[in-house]
Amino acid sequence: MSETVIEVKNLIKNYGDFRAVDGISFEVRKGEVFSILGPNGAGKTTTVEIMECLRKPSSGEVKVLGFDIAHQQNDIRKRVGILPQDFNTYDLLTVKENIDYFGVMFDRSIPTQELLDAVNLNDKKDEYFKNLSGGLKQRVGVAIAMVNDPDIIFLDEPTTGLDPKARREVWEVVKDLKRKGKTVILTTHYMEEAEVLSDRLAIMNGGRFIAYDTPRAIIKEHGYGTLCIIRSANDKAMQLLTATGLSVKRKDGDVEVHMDDKSSLHKVVEVLQDPDAYYDEITVKRSSLEDVFLKLTGKRIEDDTGAKA
Ligand SMILES: Nc1ncnc2c1ncn2[C@@H]1O[C@H](COP(=O)(O)OP(=O)(O)O)[C@@H](O)[C@H]1O
Ligand SMILES: [Mg+2]
Repeated sequence: MSETVIEVKNLIKNYGDFRAVDGISFEVRKGEVFSILGPNGAGKTTTVEIMECLRKPSSGEVKVLGFDIAHQQNDIRKRVGILPQDFNTYDLLTVKENIDYFGVMFDRSIPTQELLDAVNLNDKKDEYFKNLSGGLKQRVGVAIAMVNDPDIIFLDEPTTGLDPKARREVWEVVKDLKRKGKTVILTTHYMEEAEVLSDRLAIMNGGRFIAYDTPRAIIKEHGYGTLCIIRSANDKAMQLLTATGLSVKRKDGDVEVHMDDKSSLHKVVEVLQDPDAYYDEITVKRSSLEDVFLKLTGKRIEDDTGAKA
């Protein structure tokens, strides 16, 4: 098993009487993308800002790269990179000037040209920051987070408010960071993003982790498995499907068949050959993190966290 780079034990953070982080424990391994997925107010930013030494915990133990956040903050700060939530920088400096500016603040820094290439911003290097689209601004933020060649990079909601294309471009940057051997801690409220990018993740809600594992293992444990949906199926189709012995359910005009194993789909297709069976189409749907969140909390994650204008 690979090396542990972050260790968190029984972390609690209170703001006055309000407990924002309620006793979470986890570890992050070297070179992985670890995500904290959860709705607004779950406690994601509080958790990452404690690891970044920006906020102090009320109790619990946190070690980053073997250093204790309570008294080795300087050792940690030199070795981590941060893209804060709602990142912003100097509007009237160009992309290049902004990256240069942060580079001189560290003893060890990566040449600006290398960073521009890393986030694919070379052709925008002389643009004012204020004139960039949201997606390009986030990529400047990632370049700044990489300026000290950190071992660990924290990206706090790097794609919130971006359109789908810009979001996917940020995903590519995250994948590149992983390819370079960086450990990435990502927070997001986008299920698909967490599923696509994370090696492991925690689903956070109300200050607690309600699931913590690889996306596949979480879906396997809490999901409904795989469904075959026969759209607009007639009663004959329903009757034939029921006769297969598979678990079959009518849902509106459709029929949902639970796929027990690989042979299930074969049986479905076979019985639907009957000339009296009518349907529009067959689709197969695997359960997702969205379904897991809904099952564990009774609500949808993206309800109150829509994209910003
Ligand atoms: N400095 C603060 N003072 C008081 N309450 C805070 C503070 N920061 C965050 N909170 C509250 O703690 C909860 C968790 O916030 P946060 O960590 O920002 O969650 P997330 O990043 O998942 O949206 C929220 O209810 C938020 O209002
Ligand atoms: Mg946040």
